[in-house]
Amino acid sequence: LAKIEVKLGDVPEGKSVTFKWRGKPLFVRHRTAEEIEQERQVDVASLRDPQHDDDRIQKPEWLVLIGVCTHLGCVPIANAGEYGGYYCPCHGSHYDSSGRIRKGPAPLNLEVPQYEFVDDDTLLVG
Ligand code: FES
Repeated sequence: LAKIEVKLGDVPEGKSVTFKWRGKPLFVRHRTAEEIEQERQVDVASLRDPQHDDDRIQKPEWLVLIGVCTHLGCVPIANAGEYGGYYCPCHGSHYDSSGRIRKGPAPLNLEVPQYEFVDDDTLLVG
């Protein structure tokens, strides 16, 4: 399928749910107010792949990512690692709750796919 529709009501606050899209894992994360605030305040200059949180999201509470580690392609684990976002157990890459690489061998942030909000409860990815 070229596109996938996700019902946002299926993704509780504080959770990251994994869907399958174009043969890859797709993470849809319902961020908490604390996570949003924390990622907003990160000093972009301190990042390996410098990107402000605002440039990675459309609505602050929703983070949409391709769940493929940018090191060698393993699938990171949600709500794990030193930065609380995602942790890749293959070689120890730590991502934050904006999907940005913070520690470990991965060179780049987790990829953000094309998506749009069709209505308040529907996300269309692809
Ligand atoms: Fe994720 Fe190597 S594949 S750290």
